[in-house]
Amino acid sequence: MTAVVIYFSRPGENYINGRKQMISVGNTAVLAEKISHQVDVAALQLSPKLSYSDNYDEAVQQAEKEKKASARVEYEALSVDLEQVDTVFLGFPNWWGTYPQVIATFLADHDWTNKVIYPFCTHEGSAFGSSIQDLQAACPKAEIKTGLAVRGSKVARSDAAVKNWLLAYSNKA
Ligand SMILES: Cc1cc2nc3c(=O)[nH]c(=O)nc-3n(C[C@H](O)[C@H](O)[C@H](O)COP(=O)(O)O)c2cc1C
Repeated sequence: MTAVVIYFSRPGENYINGRKQMISVGNTAVLAEKISHQVDVAALQLSPKLSYSDNYDEAVQQAEKEKKASARVEYEALSVDLEQVDTVFLGFPNWWGTYPQVIATFLADHDWTNKVIYPFCTHEGSAFGSSIQDLQAACPKAEIKTGLAVRGSKVARSDAAVKNWLLAYSNKA
């Protein structure tokens, strides 16, 4: 079984516990590293070709525009051949109630037939929002497993939650 962690995360100014704070490593990146470490598979970051502003309000506006337009958000090529992968741990922040458009673009670019997806997200209160339904609609031929949603401010303390969530994977592998 070949598995890989693929995620998008935006460092910079973010809203954490009701306050704006600068973070140098995004919350989803922290969670992705924990998952990668626990299952011992590589973690690859989806990097949009045009990066988002460090300024929270600007990033929020940009994301809203992209969502309303169902925009394609181009990203740097990943160093993995997805044809050779059967399981993807797919991570993203909740943006405007679902996954960011760079994830939507990535999903649209690949054939997910018979692949297994373990979704994980970080958020500031809305957990997965509609992202699981959106994922099912975007990849109807994939097997989508139960996801893990962690509040951004709690990612540093999420080891037990990650371990627990990964039991379903470890029992299969
Ligand atoms: C553009 C934008 C939109 C967001 N929309 C939501 C939202 O709809 N619901 C929510 O709970 N959190 C929302 N958040 C908060 C992020 O989901 C949360 O801070 C997340 O942990 C950020 O992950 P990252 O640091 O990996 O980018 C939003 C943040 C940004 C920057």
